[in-house]
Amino acid sequence: MTSSVTAPTAPGALPLLGHALAMARNPLGFLTSLPAAGDLVRIRLGLWKAFVVTDPDLVHHLLVNDRIFDKGGPTFDKAREVMGNGLVSCSHQDHRRQRRLLQPAFHRDRLTNYARMMPEQISVMIDSWQQGDVIDVRAQMQALTSRIVSRTLFVADVARPAAVALEESLDDIVRGVFRNLVVPPPFKNLPTPLNLRFRRSRARVAAAVDACVTEYRRSGVDHADVLSALLAARDDNGRALAESEIRDQVVTLLLGATETSATTLSWALHLLAAHPDVLEQVHAETDAVLGRRVAEAEDLPALELTNRVITETLRLYPPGWIFTRIVTADAELAGQPLPAGTIVIYSPYLIHRSPRLYPDPDRFDPDRWLPGHVARPPRTAYLPFAAGARRCIGDTFGLNQAVLTLASVAARWELRHTTRAVRAAPSAVLAPRSLRMRLSAR
Ligand code: HEM
Repeated sequence: MTSSVTAPTAPGALPLLGHALAMARNPLGFLTSLPAAGDLVRIRLGLWKAFVVTDPDLVHHLLVNDRIFDKGGPTFDKAREVMGNGLVSCSHQDHRRQRRLLQPAFHRDRLTNYARMMPEQISVMIDSWQQGDVIDVRAQMQALTSRIVSRTLFVADVARPAAVALEESLDDIVRGVFRNLVVPPPFKNLPTPLNLRFRRSRARVAAAVDACVTEYRRSGVDHADVLSALLAARDDNGRALAESEIRDQVVTLLLGATETSATTLSWALHLLAAHPDVLEQVHAETDAVLGRRVAEAEDLPALELTNRVITETLRLYPPGWIFTRIVTADAELAGQPLPAGTIVIYSPYLIHRSPRLYPDPDRFDPDRWLPGHVARPPRTAYLPFAAGARRCIGDTFGLNQAVLTLASVAARWELRHTTRAVRAAPSAVLAPRSLRMRLSAR
């Protein structure tokens, strides 16, 4: 295939650097400027060339054609070094088998069971708070979501050391993953304190998971947790997951679940504090449904507004704000020939902030998600969990957790900013930069 470029190049490319400076200085501003250039826009980051897809229908096409537009590109290659060949990072060739093996762990009955385990952990957090305390919101939410995921992955008492190892190692692993994504290969193997901590944490988690697997296998008991589901899973040929595959999946689920959910909750608390009118309505809902108690799985259908607040939060601040794909066979997109090996980028953030799709896109407006709302956007325009075969497997888990936590916090506490400007810090996820809030009991 000829690789003649018909797609426009984003304006402002510098000699040698291309768009690297614009992307480093203000990635969100740079991305949202691209639709003005076209539906498919060429960018250059130093030596690295890519096409950014800015049109939602083209993004949808990309996501549903996951054989041609496979997981790949520099970010995934590095993620694989850390997460192994788990469900997030595996290629199309392994995906169907892996997804089938993991799907039973996310079956509807299991999800209800996990949602029943969440309130206990939410109570631990809320009960530990004191009137007038200033909290680091992201750290609190991170501690909560890692406790929830580790305790739904491993329920049994014998698994407690594995759960604790996961909770305690998560921070070092997440920082290691991000460092791995940005640091060139020769440096990431140096024995720096961060690298050593990362390696120690990974080894500790691996050992704890292996010990836990041995114990679960020995007892043969189904604990109705994620690990039991993984151990029971068989592929079409009747084969179970190998030990190393289970380890990769556990680390993958832990990393996929924790930061994404924690940043969603942090942004939701920020947005509610910044919009007292919406907060008042949320309080009315939680007063009616919960009073001052923690939300239970059975309350989920009644927490309708809280649900829309989370939906709108994920629109404004999708934790996964940018992803890459690699073209595996010569293809064409928007009339542009894309030879195998081409890197393509999609950004849920860019799509979610399009004024064409969302009137007044920067405004926090949970009412745009009311059924029958005139400006309800098309299905392809909402991508916090991606779409197609690689859509997030933990979407319902994540949403249940976010709604139960937000409602429980709102029922008991009001959180107020202690700093005025809260800015987004786009890194491995799109998190708020230093969000500290003061607690006031309701
Ligand atoms: C609000 C919370 C969450 C958000 C915003 C989120 C977002 C995403 C996105 C955007 C993808 C697709 C990535 C891509 O296109 O390359 C994804 C995939 C995935 N997520 Fe989530 N996620 C969340 C919660 C969770 C939870 C709770 C779990 C596990 C319990 C999880 C596990 C996974 C896995 C395993 C995949 C790979 C799926 C596949 O390729 O088949 N996520 N997630």
